[in-house]
Amino acid sequence: MTRATTVEPDADPADGYEPCGIEDRYAPPAAVPDPDRDKGWFRRLLPLLLARRLAFAATLVCGVAGLTLQVSVPMVLRRAVDTALDGRTGSLEAHVWALVGIAVAAFGLRFAYRYLLFWAAYRIETDLRSTIYGHLTRLSFSFYDRVAAGEVISRANSDIRSIQLLLAFGPLAGLSMLSFVLAVGFMLTIHVPLTLVAVSTMPFVFVLGQRMRDRVFPLSWVTQGRMAEVAMVVDENLSGTRVVKSFAAEAEQITQLSRAAQRLRWSATALVDARARFNPLIEALPRLGMALILLYGGWLAIEGDIGVGALLAFSSYVVMIAVPFRMLGFVLLQAQRAAASSQRIFEILDEAPAIADRPGARHLVDPAGRLEFRGVRFSYPGADPDAPPVLDGLDLVIEPGETVALVGRTGCGKTTVARLLCRFYDVDAGAVLVDDNDVRDLTLTSLRHHANQVTDEPFLFSESIHDNIAFGRPDAPHEDVVRAAVAAQADTFVGELADGWDEVVGERGYTLSGGQRQRIALARSLLANPRILVLDDATSAVDVRVEEAIHAALRDLLADRTTIVIAHRLSTIALADRVVLLEGGRITASGTHAELLATSPAYAAILASGGNGHDDPDGQEAI
Ligand SMILES: Nc1ncnc2c1ncn2[C@@H]1O[C@H](COP(=O)(O)OP(=O)(O)OP(=O)(O)O)[C@@H](O)[C@H]1O
Ligand SMILES: [Mg+2]
Repeated sequence: MTRATTVEPDADPADGYEPCGIEDRYAPPAAVPDPDRDKGWFRRLLPLLLARRLAFAATLVCGVAGLTLQVSVPMVLRRAVDTALDGRTGSLEAHVWALVGIAVAAFGLRFAYRYLLFWAAYRIETDLRSTIYGHLTRLSFSFYDRVAAGEVISRANSDIRSIQLLLAFGPLAGLSMLSFVLAVGFMLTIHVPLTLVAVSTMPFVFVLGQRMRDRVFPLSWVTQGRMAEVAMVVDENLSGTRVVKSFAAEAEQITQLSRAAQRLRWSATALVDARARFNPLIEALPRLGMALILLYGGWLAIEGDIGVGALLAFSSYVVMIAVPFRMLGFVLLQAQRAAASSQRIFEILDEAPAIADRPGARHLVDPAGRLEFRGVRFSYPGADPDAPPVLDGLDLVIEPGETVALVGRTGCGKTTVARLLCRFYDVDAGAVLVDDNDVRDLTLTSLRHHANQVTDEPFLFSESIHDNIAFGRPDAPHEDVVRAAVAAQADTFVGELADGWDEVVGERGYTLSGGQRQRIALARSLLANPRILVLDDATSAVDVRVEEAIHAALRDLLADRTTIVIAHRLSTIALADRVVLLEGGRITASGTHAELLATSPAYAAILASGGNGHDDPDGQEAI
């Protein structure tokens, strides 16, 4: 009979239920993309834009006002020349002051609209970034078994950036097109045929721009991919630098890097080449337009059809109207990129976590710690379907407070058992139960709060020793941290470090020895104080003398905990009340160490081979 150890998902702390896990302390994004996969990429991103609609609206108002002023400058110039200078009917001073006033106001408005626009674009970038990284942290082990995390992150970074660029420059291009419309409107009020001559080169600007985009887009896409490739090679080399150096393989790695760098250089040069061919041509066209204006407009002025001021205004406009077309070209290119980028982003966002709380999952509360594996069958996702499952028909019951040693050859599935218990993967058949609750019916936070494991490859963060130990309980008082460290025999070497508890360990804890890292990891789990603890080869790198001291402390600490020790060493197995043997995906023997030694040749063989379980080629498993 076990206690009632679960509560409803919406249980109140007042009912005696204390929420477990670490609280969220970050500001959530203002909006998240639309989850509907049938919608286009832009519509899916729309909620993020709408969340910043005030900024966009203000941008629009300031932008339209600023551009109208800017476009009116040549008109003022025209009036000044035609009335004050030529006709001598107006005041030059008034026109000068008007231009000064326009310049000041246009500055203020342009500043405001650019500032607001980029303000909104960067906020949307942040929203998108936190949504993506938040999602990446929720994805399950099976996702990271499939993809290289470094690559996903570097890709996400450039993809987010290309969407942000579109969001900033798209509205700018829209406003710029508006200035084109206004300019043409002003020109039409002066002289219609001359306006047609002035805009006659624009279609060519557009067509050339289109050609350039067709050539530039694929090249820039390839270049971006190759940049990520170089980043990945560098990243892998640097994080694997200890392996590279120990094989003196630097030359080989540098060759690999230079190959990637050359591929990047090729596409970047091709990109520059394409741009260099088209850009001067596109820039030259408005100048050609200027010549046409001078030819036709000059003739009109000589004939007296238009004033000199009008001619001056036209020559300003012809330069002004080329800008929107070039901008439009850039934005169309950026839109193509953003479309491809958001496709990749949605690939990540649409990936549902393989392991998640089912609706109505209950919180595990103060469990007694009875564990049961009932007919468990499991293969890793993506494994060869013809290969035998890692676990097949695994039956194992562990009573509350019991310490069980799980022994088996290397690769037989011991770590897999621990992963299924913490529900990092789901079983293919059968069930894993904690206090008679299927782990799939429990919330992940409460399950992992009460069931913790110390792995054989401890990962430390580049933080202080104190913060590493307090990882699962950031608010734990320092005395508790020290107590956990003492039990794990981690306090001895901490005292010798220059900064003691505040010493920041290098990346992944590489400034510590393997045994020291293991002791910190053990202290981290002991501080979390879980009812169910798995020690997966947790002291394999610690010398026997220190291990003995750890065991002396652990014996007390494990007394009322349910513990699975995965062990190769006899000294570690000695911690356990009972030993079980995992073979061929199931438990084949169970009993005390002495009983198994006497009855199970396989057990004796594994111990004799130092737990490495190297297959004996003759099948003559000697003790
Ligand atoms: N993430 C994974 N994806 C696919 N296969 C895996 C994965 N992890 C382990 N395996 C495979 O599952 C089998 C069991 O692995 P597991 O890590 O559970 O063995 P183990 O008993 O813990 O071995 P060891 O004593 O060496 O730690 C192995 O054949 C291994 O190749
Ligand atoms: Mg293992």
